[in-house]
Amino acid sequence: MTQCCINPSILSADFVNLEAELQRISNADAVHVDVMDNHFVPNLTIGLPVVQRIQAVSPVPLDAHLMIADADRWAPGFADAGLASVTFHAEAAIAPIKLARELRARGAKAGMALRPGTPVEPYLDMLPELDMLLIMTVEPGFGGQAFLDVTLPKIRRARQAIDGSGIGVAIQVDGGITEDTITRAAEAGANVFVAGSAVYGAEDPAAAINRLREAGTQKLRTAAE
Ligand code: DX5
Ligand code: ZN
Repeated sequence: MTQCCINPSILSADFVNLEAELQRISNADAVHVDVMDNHFVPNLTIGLPVVQRIQAVSPVPLDAHLMIADADRWAPGFADAGLASVTFHAEAAIAPIKLARELRARGAKAGMALRPGTPVEPYLDMLPELDMLLIMTVEPGFGGQAFLDVTLPKIRRARQAIDGSGIGVAIQVDGGITEDTITRAAEAGANVFVAGSAVYGAEDPAAAINRLREAGTQKLRTAAE
């Protein structure tokens, strides 16, 4: 059975108490760290120095989502920081294959993200260069938005391509993931789920992670049957 991973996004956490906020999600598979530069997306979050500190204290591995322009130049530095996984946007990279290889060479898993309106087809041939494909299920930039069901066919096509070629690429979805929408995304073929408000908006984030994992795993099980 495909593994179901829940990666809470600290975008919805209390940025003044990040270390404590990380401890509240120690049962997560990884922590999703959203880096925004106010160019690629109309919002600004944190940069490499803060990410390095998070890496130093986090009880779980880091999954960085770089919503930054000029990814070719900036993404390798995040891999050098020892992050488990570094995801750049296809729309922000000039040489995505070269960049994915560089991330892997520096010891990180290589992820590539697609905005909701970016088709997956032009990138199918490069899937073997990636460890993870991130299909955005909202427009990147802000937490708390509603899941875009219009992205489900793209998730299905990506899953078919991956299963058909026998390569082990994870499909991550990010944006609007709740106990309700996670089942639709899992059914379509996603197996790594980012959840910001659904985890940090809950009274007990660790319990919310368990509920999401249960919902996602059940659908993965059904889809595999
Ligand atoms: C949005 C970010 C997401 C965001 C998800 O651009 O990439 O990771 O934190 O937040 P929710 O789960 O609230 O949609
Ligand atoms: Zn994200």
